[in-house]
Amino acid sequence: MIDPNGRQVDYLRISVTDRCNERCLYCLPENYSNWLPRAEVLNDAELLAVARAAVSLGFKKFRVTGGEPLVRPGVVGFIRELVALPGVESVQLTTNGTRLPELAQLLFDAGLRRINISLDALDADTYRTITSGDVAPVIQGIKLVKQIGFPSVKLNTVLMRGKNDGEILPLLNFAAEHDVAIRFIELMPVSLTEMLSEKNFLPVAEVFSLLKREDELEPMNEPLGFGPAKYFRLKQRGVTVGLIGALSDLHFCERCNKMRLTCDGKLRPCLGNHLETDLKPGLRPAIDEEKLRALFRGTLAEKPSEHLFRNNYQPQRVMTAIGG
Ligand code: 5AD
Ligand code: SF4
Repeated sequence: MIDPNGRQVDYLRISVTDRCNERCLYCLPENYSNWLPRAEVLNDAELLAVARAAVSLGFKKFRVTGGEPLVRPGVVGFIRELVALPGVESVQLTTNGTRLPELAQLLFDAGLRRINISLDALDADTYRTITSGDVAPVIQGIKLVKQIGFPSVKLNTVLMRGKNDGEILPLLNFAAEHDVAIRFIELMPVSLTEMLSEKNFLPVAEVFSLLKREDELEPMNEPLGFGPAKYFRLKQRGVTVGLIGALSDLHFCERCNKMRLTCDGKLRPCLGNHLETDLKPGLRPAIDEEKLRALFRGTLAEKPSEHLFRNNYQPQRVMTAIGG
């Protein structure tokens, strides 16, 4: 589908749960427990109906997100069905990695081939400070997905001044050692935590300078994946690095190709805008694909040309309810 700004939109991010087993500083307020009631969260049949409607309108690429998608009961079965849906060309998963040791092989067997794993620090104490969790299973999970042979594995690191500046080089070396790409992401005002203040903001330009000092950079013409990252190859280390300048890159939204489905069935045309369309009237009491398609078209027609993050944007929902 083509949006009002002439961009081809064919990528849907599907949040399958707002819940998470970690509590990242930039994502969830401390002691957050205001999870959506289970009945509000779309079931597998409803999620697949939305995916089917999206495919019928030209969507080809899907990403399963959360919260932490791997804490949703039955998520492997859902992914198997999504992969098998005719017209679906690519299914990707974004996970915090904590459950990969148990689930990686099952996910591969379900047909998943592309995984993004959040890794904000390698040092166990730093990792715990940022996420409240344990880094060991995540590292084990990364090694396992490589061993199993997932063809696309990327690490995501959210940049926070004063928190993980010192982790950038160790993370690069880790990515090189394990032959995975790594992306550094600017902190975005998408959640309701205290972390999102200017003093914590670390622009990707600083990472770029560090990379130039530490290695030889070669810009890559072919993007890796379907998102807004700018990719470089570090020649000495032999690792691919992506920089996601969500705030500092003034052209960030120009090639935006995606929409987002929240786990309670709201379709959002832009992460940095409060617009959303409730798809539930097309799902309950019964699935109505024609209605779903009409709701999709209406949402796409409202897709903003760019996010509002630079305009003192105040999010109204926690990140986990929107889905990374
Ligand atoms: N700013 C930038 N990235 C974020 N993510 C979650 N919250 C934020 C934020 N406030 C990232 C996670 C994960 C993906 C789902 O989105 O680290 O990699
Ligand atoms: Fe696209 Fe909105 Fe994200 Fe910009 S902020 S890249 S328009 S979804």
